[in-house]
Amino acid sequence: MRFFVNVDHVATVRQARRTDEPDPVAAAIGCERAGADGITVHLREDRRHIQDQDVERLCATISTMLNLELATADDIVALATRLRPHQATFVPERREEVTTEGGLDLTSAKGHPDPRLVEAVEAVRQAGVRASLFIDPDSTAIERSAALGVDAIELHTGEYANHYRDSDAPLARLAEAARQARGAGLAVHAGHGLTYHNVQAVAAIPEIEELNIGHSIVSRSILVGIEGAVSEMRALIAAARVD
Ligand code: PXP
Repeated sequence: MRFFVNVDHVATVRQARRTDEPDPVAAAIGCERAGADGITVHLREDRRHIQDQDVERLCATISTMLNLELATADDIVALATRLRPHQATFVPERREEVTTEGGLDLTSAKGHPDPRLVEAVEAVRQAGVRASLFIDPDSTAIERSAALGVDAIELHTGEYANHYRDSDAPLARLAEAARQARGAGLAVHAGHGLTYHNVQAVAAIPEIEELNIGHSIVSRSILVGIEGAVSEMRALIAAARVD
């Protein structure tokens, strides 16, 4: 299991004052020191937290892997092909949303995927960057992702995170989607809304090989520091895995 820490919200605090602290690159180094396998950032079109320069500095500085989350905006796809992070995860983006609210919509366009997405996936793969799609745990979305020729999918765990206390159904959907995706030859990742309280059931799904966790870790880091927060999450994930 690879464990990636999303440091977007370190930049959120910095951008609240448009100053130079706290530095997401310094936080990323702390995450690595505490055992993170990689760092994730989302360069949003509105640049509300992570800035282009942060991505440049992360690429030049971190010793693990960078997973860049992005929508299909031309300038951001161009940055991804120039900087060539380890992985590009395509996400849907709406300016008014507080966070990414659902997976990519691969199901509604009469069987044809969004041509901008097809082009963007092709561009990053040609640049040697692994391509992943952030999707809901839905069987048509998985089939269409496989047809697009991506390397991986990231299953949106938001519904599970919102309802895990009162229903087993969202976890069962994630487990079934993970099996289907692995069966279709896709690497399976998961993330969104995972916390110290709900991570273990998702980490225990054997087909899931990568988790992306941000808000909960950055929140905890305010109390115990980034290294402590990452170590605690890492221990929970490790305890949930049998392999
Ligand atoms: N995975 C994806 C694709 C995301 O967009 C996000 C949020 O940026 C995360 C994982 C991390 O979500 P959270 O901050 O809720 O842990």
